[in-house]
Amino acid sequence: MNDEKMVILGGVRLRGEVKISGAKNSAVAVLVASILVNGKCVIENVPRVSDIYNLIGIIKSLGCEADFVGDDTVEIDCSEIKSYKATGAAVRKIRASSYFMGALLGRLHKASVDLPGGCDFGVRPIDQHLKGFKALGADSDIEYGVVNITADKLVGDTVYMDVVSVGATIDVMLAAVLAEGMTVIESAAKEPHVVDVANFLNSMGANIRGAGTDVIKIRGVKELHGGSFSVIPDQIEAGTFMIAAAATGGDVLVNNIIPKHMESLSAKLEEMGVGIEEFDEAIRVFVKQPELRRCNVKTQPYPGFPTDLQPPMLTLLTKAKGTSIMTENVWENRFQYVSELNRMGAYISLEDSDEAVVEGGSKLVGAPVCAKDLRAGAAMVVAALMADGVTEIYNLKYIDRGYENFEKKLKKLGAQITRRCVNPMPDFLKTAGEK
Ligand code: UD1
Repeated sequence: MNDEKMVILGGVRLRGEVKISGAKNSAVAVLVASILVNGKCVIENVPRVSDIYNLIGIIKSLGCEADFVGDDTVEIDCSEIKSYKATGAAVRKIRASSYFMGALLGRLHKASVDLPGGCDFGVRPIDQHLKGFKALGADSDIEYGVVNITADKLVGDTVYMDVVSVGATIDVMLAAVLAEGMTVIESAAKEPHVVDVANFLNSMGANIRGAGTDVIKIRGVKELHGGSFSVIPDQIEAGTFMIAAAATGGDVLVNNIIPKHMESLSAKLEEMGVGIEEFDEAIRVFVKQPELRRCNVKTQPYPGFPTDLQPPMLTLLTKAKGTSIMTENVWENRFQYVSELNRMGAYISLEDSDEAVVEGGSKLVGAPVCAKDLRAGAAMVVAALMADGVTEIYNLKYIDRGYENFEKKLKKLGAQITRRCVNPMPDFLKTAGEK
């Protein structure tokens, strides 16, 4: 359903303070990881976004108790879990459903999970997840879109990842926590949310060492107990606001963040001539000079430049005079939104599926555009804030998957932004955006 649109009048400099929510990508993993716990988990700093509501619904369908009990607090109790089957439309909608494979396998030695969906930016394989489960002694097959995994018992082993994968690293960690003996994950992903999931599991009694490095060692324990945990701040939401501040020539204090997680972005913004001032839990982004300098950016696994900030960053590069090159090294098809930016007057050409060349310096002009996926949707918001005139953004369901109170936060910074019903639906939308 495309029943709402965002309407933004561009050209306002964002000013003030914004408080960043809990990390969506960490919260989705921590919620599913609670399946491994025999007791009540109280998870704080959980953002109220649609991916989270979907996951809570799936966790309940397994016979567990799960619900928001405060603004940002979720209580989950999976002591009485009844089902090993996570299937259905809600499961297919979100990529994080892949974590049900590791968590159900770890807890029940059996999992049937619909092949996970999520945003469409190329093939999203799960071979590394399955390879890890196999090393621990599980068999798997895929039948009519459902992955079935079983193990008589799980025994730790060394798993060499062929690609650096956030999802596979977390999933194997989940399967290994209650296994016998020691599991070693080599070439593990180092993203902040991998560390956060390990910290959550350790606080519930797991024995995981090395998260945040290439090698993670998990010594199996008999049982996990309940407890409380607070999710880290959202690196990608923080980055989106930092970029929006720079894009509008503004001055914004981005609060409640871990500045270390932002280093690759802060460095690029400074290279472009944007002012960055770091505090313990905040970064101030301010524009020192009217013209931004061009720069090249390559996405990489953490601590490199995050692929999820590639769309908003490419949007910012349209403002910098000269030629900038954005190279996408993580996903094979993540430039589908470029046509939308070009409709707003950007000059971006795709040299290859992994390289976008921006001829920057021209002003964007408002237009009706589609959010092609979650982070591409964030890029449309940044573009609209930069543009002359009014931009209408459709397909908000993507943006709503990952940004809590987006309009409210932007409004507080001075943005002219509102949400309206789409009635009737414009013709160009009937064929666009639905994947
Ligand atoms: C997570 C994030 C997503 C982000 C991505 C990379 C969540 C819910 N999503 O996705 O927003 O863009 O990390 O930072 O946290 N790959 C394989 N085989 C596998 C798994 C992955 O070849 O079994 C490849 C993928 O095709 C991709 C690369 O590894 O090219 C990275 O994928 P991965 O890190 O697994 O991404 P996700 O965990 O799905």
